Amino acid sequence: MGEIIVAITGASGAIYGLRLIEVLSDLGIHLRVIVTESAKLTLKHECDFEIEQFKSMENIILEDNEDIAAKSASGSAKIDAMVIVPCSGTTLGKLAAGIGDNLVTRSAIVSMKERRKLIIVPRESPLATTHIENMLKLSTWDTVILPASPGFYNQPTSVDDLIDFIVSRILDQLKIDNNISKRWTGNEI
Ligand SMILES: Cc1cc2nc3c(=O)[nH]c(=O)nc-3n(C[C@H](O)[C@H](O)[C@H](O)COP(=O)(O)O)c2cc1C
Repeated sequence: MGEIIVAITGASGAIYGLRLIEVLSDLGIHLRVIVTESAKLTLKHECDFEIEQFKSMENIILEDNEDIAAKSASGSAKIDAMVIVPCSGTTLGKLAAGIGDNLVTRSAIVSMKERRKLIIVPRESPLATTHIENMLKLSTWDTVILPASPGFYNQPTSVDDLIDFIVSRILDQLKIDNNISKRWTGNEI
């Protein structure tokens, strides 16, 4: 597998993005990480995490969301997939409107035009009609909409279990073998 872009935007649930980055980095997968200004706030508030901490992690290149000339913004770059986790309603709306005004949105639009795998993990509740319409649009354009709503059929006992449920679904979409969350086997009732 080549490089994967992981973008964290300013929706609640920054921990989903952090955990995905941790698992991919541990697997030796090369990552380009982009964090929006709002996500810097949620990372600090929810996870007590500063983006400088990425610099000490393996296999990670941190890109500046304002740097529209970064590698992730290029259609000719060798990038396999992009995940936006969590994805805010703002970023969702920009993508549905074709707006690429920062590195996250530009890279996502490039992913769409290059027909690369694009996975979006929206987190909002309840949803406005505009969110639903925007998700429908993006889904029609082959973007995977993977809401941050964990299942409970695997009997989670911790917040970590709930986080790993979503991260496991993302890894499945990336076709990366994983057993970080208990799977349904069909004979559990
Ligand atoms: C603590 C906090 C939690 C937020 N949670 C959400 C959320 O769950 N979903 C959402 O769509 N926006 C949420 N927002 C609002 C976004 O941060 C805001 O819409 C911002 O413009 C998103 O910009 P970005 O997509 O460039 O990160 C939250 C903001 C704050 C400060």
